[in-house]
Amino acid sequence: MHSLNLSPARAVRGTPEIPGDKSISHRYALLSALAPGESVIERLSSGADVAATLACLRALGVTIVAKAPNVVAVTGRPWTPPPEALDAANSGTTMRLLAGLLATRPFRSTLTGDASLSQRPMGRIIDPLTVMGAHIASRGGRAPLVIDGGPLQGLEWAPPVPSAQVKSAVLLAGLYAAGTTTVLEPAATRDHTERALPLFGMACEVDGLRVRVAGGQRATPASAPLRVPGDPSGAATWAAAAAAVPGSRVCIRGLALNPRRIGFLRVLQRLGADIAVEQDSLEGGEPVGTMTVVYGDRQDTCITPDEVPGLIDELPVLAACAATGRCLEVSGAQELRVKESDRITALVTGLRALGVDAEERPDGFVIDGRRRASGGRADAVGDHRLVMAFAIVALGAAGPSQIDNADCVAVSYPTFESDLRQLVT
Ligand code: S3P
Repeated sequence: MHSLNLSPARAVRGTPEIPGDKSISHRYALLSALAPGESVIERLSSGADVAATLACLRALGVTIVAKAPNVVAVTGRPWTPPPEALDAANSGTTMRLLAGLLATRPFRSTLTGDASLSQRPMGRIIDPLTVMGAHIASRGGRAPLVIDGGPLQGLEWAPPVPSAQVKSAVLLAGLYAAGTTTVLEPAATRDHTERALPLFGMACEVDGLRVRVAGGQRATPASAPLRVPGDPSGAATWAAAAAAVPGSRVCIRGLALNPRRIGFLRVLQRLGADIAVEQDSLEGGEPVGTMTVVYGDRQDTCITPDEVPGLIDELPVLAACAATGRCLEVSGAQELRVKESDRITALVTGLRALGVDAEERPDGFVIDGRRRASGGRADAVGDHRLVMAFAIVALGAAGPSQIDNADCVAVSYPTFESDLRQLVT
């Protein structure tokens, strides 16, 4: 297992080229695989999570050819029973979205994952898919999932927790179900599935928090190459790093600016950063543009429960930014406990190991960054978002740091370490 050794930074400056967005990449790959004919996807996420989705699709008989780095041609065709279990590896999006589609196929399939994914709750998708008529056996609501798919019936589902993965699993199943399928979200979550469906000739109706698809729809291949915009969650790391270290400035172009993904920018502003965002295009229904973040005087803030769905994946890097001289209180974020790790316990434990005053709460955490972090040795416990968070703390710390179990950063951002070394002065 690789450890990341970092020294305090004088500043973080540059214009990093971040990978294509992970969430959008999964959706483009899955929807292409449904459409008979060829769809080309450019700037597909280079991370291991999307590679897991591609591997599962290949095992289902879909042809996927790499045309150039991060460019694939996907030829969809009727899926065939996979010869062995489909391995979603560390990827919750792969397992949950694919389960929605496999529930509609007339064969048995098994979805497995790594140790982390095998601990994560799958009842949240098993329940609605079962009501629709699928048969899914699990290990007490956890993977492996054995799915006996078949004809489904549409339903109206109100998930108890805001989750784009649950919403998407139900909507994808609904495309092939009888009648209409409606998801009524408890709070707005990322809407990449809704934005992607029309690119593949499929319709979806959005009315506030209510999203509806008709059953019996047929996917058609994307008529032109689809270009995935840059991943805002990866970009958030550099934004938080720039906000953390005096004298810093980062500028990121070609970034996905979907309003449901950039809640982190408002928090960084409240923490004192100077931020400019400019949208310059709409690609595949997703707003795309440039973000510039400049270090600014430190301020304290809170993140309230209503903000959480719009920045759930960015909470670790926001905590890390706060750890450099600010106070931050986060509540209503209990979902963090069922991510790639228990991100409340693992984050607070790692921050403390780096000399940060941090306190765990059942539904969040409190960071008191007034005392400068010493640096030290933190365990990322195989969670990519924690590698990024601890790296930011290390850059702002007084002494050197080591981050253990850091290989997992490749789940979403394989070039993270080289980009980091280029940005740091
Ligand atoms: C994702 C949705 C979120 C997010 C995850 C990716 C998606 O998960 O945390 O990293 O691509 O739909 P939940 O749906 O579980 O909130």
